[in-house]
This record gives sequence, C-alpha cells and structure tokens, in this order.
Amino acid sequence: MQLDTVIKNRHSVRKYLPFHIPDSQLGLVLDAANRAPSAGNLQAFKIFAIRGDAKKQIVAKCTYGQDFIVGASIVLIFAAQPEASSKEYGTRGSNLYCIQDATIAATFAVLKATDLGYSTAWIGSFDEEMLTNEIGCDGYIPVAMVLIGKAGESPRLTLRKKIDDIVKFLD
Ligand SMILES: Cc1cc2nc3c(=O)[nH]c(=O)nc-3n(C[C@H](O)[C@H](O)[C@H](O)COP(=O)(O)O)c2cc1C
Repeated sequence: MQLDTVIKNRHSVRKYLPFHIPDSQLGLVLDAANRAPSAGNLQAFKIFAIRGDAKKQIVAKCTYGQDFIVGASIVLIFAAQPEASSKEYGTRGSNLYCIQDATIAATFAVLKATDLGYSTAWIGSFDEEMLTNEIGCDGYIPVAMVLIGKAGESPRLTLRKKIDDIVKFLD
C-alpha cells in the first residue's frame, strides 16, 4: 500500500474475527518496529508478545474491562526500558527517551500491520503495576498495548481537528 493509504486506512477496531496471524506476517510487523528511530539508536524498549487466549485474558483484566482484547490475534505490549536509556542520557533518557522509543516502535508496528491488511487498536488504559506483575516485566514501563487482528466490525470513523488548530507557524 502507499503510505498515504495506510495512514487513511488505519482506524481503531475493537472487535476481531478468530484468526491466527502467520509467523511470516508477524515477522514483518516486528521488523517494522525494529526499524523505528530511537534515541542514540539504543532501542530502549522490549516487546512482550501475547498469542495465547489464557494470557490475553489475564492481560485484559488489567485494562478495566476491555475484554475485546482477547479477540485480537496478537497483543503486543511495548515496554520502555528506562535503565538502558538513563545510562546514556540520565533522567531525560529514563523519563522521556525510552517512552518515545517504545511509542515510535509501536506506531511503526501499527502502520505495518495496517499495510498488511490487519486492523489494530492502541490500548493505553491499563493498571501499570498489575500489568507489570502479570507479564513479569520488572524494570520496564509498559507504555502501550497494540492489538492486531482481522476486523469483525466496521470501525467507527473519528473526526480530527483542523490543521490550523494543531499547528502554530512561528516564522
Ligand atoms: C495513548 C492512547 C491511548 C489509547 N487508549 C485506548 C484504550 O485504552 N482503549 C481503546 O479502546 N482505545 C484507546 N486508544 C485509541 C483511541 O481511542 C483512538 O485512537 C482515537 O479515538 C481515534 O480513533 P482512531 O484510532 O480510529 O483514528 C488510545 C489511543 C492512544 C494514542
């Protein structure tokens, strides 16, 4: 797909069809995430990938009732690694750069999944401490869950601000 088409086709989907994402396609999504820019190229994040229903249910319990998560083919949890970033960049690394590293990687994954014809949802509402315990990611900060799957609904189309409302030219 053209990048423009990918961007326009991406919408959050919260109902999925039963489907197993092939390893080859998952590999392309993970490769896209791995190509994302990161501060000092440190890639201060880890992706915790969850495919099994039992584990997806446990993860869903951390999201204040967003049970549709279980329907996704795969849940990718992007977690920042503050220690790795702070070694190079101090508190700016641990407070900001590692979060950005994880977020950009998640965005690349979303765009690649869309390019491959999958639907996605970005889940940011979860109990961070509970999720950390459940997936055993001590030392990491879970930043976002990315759901990937085959859409079982037409996405709700969402509006956006006018460009003038999000840009302030300073020249
Ligand atoms: C930081 C962040 C957190 C979000 N958290 C959730 C969430 O917990 N549950 C959910 O269903 N959608 C969540 N979303 C998705 C947004 O609701 C969605 O992107 C927005 O409404 C625009 O719709 P669209 O993605 O279809 O363009 C989140 C998105 C972002 C960027």
